Amino acid sequence: MKLKKGLSVLLAAVLLLSMGLLAGCGEKDDKDQGDAKPKLVMATNATFPPYEFVDDNGEFAGIDVEIAGLIADELGMELEIKNVDFGVILGGVQSEKYDIGMAGMTVTDERKEQVNFSSTYAKAKQVVIVKADSTYASYEDFYTGYTTVDGEEVPAGVKDGIKIGVQQDTTGDIYSSDEPKNWGFGEDNVVRYKTGALAVEDLKQGRVTAVIIDNEPAKEFVKQNEGLKILDGAYADEEYAIAVNKNDTELLQKINDALKKLTDNGEIQKVVDKFIK
Ligand code: ARG
Repeated sequence: MKLKKGLSVLLAAVLLLSMGLLAGCGEKDDKDQGDAKPKLVMATNATFPPYEFVDDNGEFAGIDVEIAGLIADELGMELEIKNVDFGVILGGVQSEKYDIGMAGMTVTDERKEQVNFSSTYAKAKQVVIVKADSTYASYEDFYTGYTTVDGEEVPAGVKDGIKIGVQQDTTGDIYSSDEPKNWGFGEDNVVRYKTGALAVEDLKQGRVTAVIIDNEPAKEFVKQNEGLKILDGAYADEEYAIAVNKNDTELLQKINDALKKLTDNGEIQKVVDKFIK
């Protein structure tokens, strides 16, 4: 085909220009890749000191935040934290909205159906906070009495007026909401709050009898608020782990390798010692 000279020059120019632009794009992308590491998006609920909270400078802080930072470093990734309601974390990991869920998250069989869990990195327990002048010595005193079911002694019922405050969707909520024969207090006797702190606020106001929550946050809340105490004994024993999408077995393996390394070299203990005195 014979093009007029002017047109062919123009075409050549357009071609060169677009090549240049394309090359430019490529360059820019490469450069972005070079500077910015791939992101590790972590969903958490930063209302749970000392594991995750927003500090006085408005920054995310706490044991999980720092351990996640160390893991991201090991993976050559950049940690990005999304602060969401506790109850949406696992769904978001399942739908691949988040890469990991790390939120003092207790491993349970039900949750294992939704996500994979890393190796556990902390032991925890559910404890009972009451007002300092409370006459209850244990959650066992919240029950009317005991009865034998299948050869096992279980609670027969819950005393009138007992109200248990919990953070919505946590194991404290799930276990407390169960029937007395399964050591719960019955759905109707549980009051759910968006955060543990709000549950504690209502405990101070006398609107609930007790708050059931993880031990270390319980200690923080009792420290921050006058007139409260933690009852002896555990309502439940638990372990924390990081939630990962079931399809993302490669990420799970990398996280487990990092956790092992950071446990063996004492880095995780250092973080824990910084936040739990
Ligand atoms: N360990 C409890 C659970 O897994 C409570 C966790 C709450 N965590 C939080 N970041 N608010 O259900």
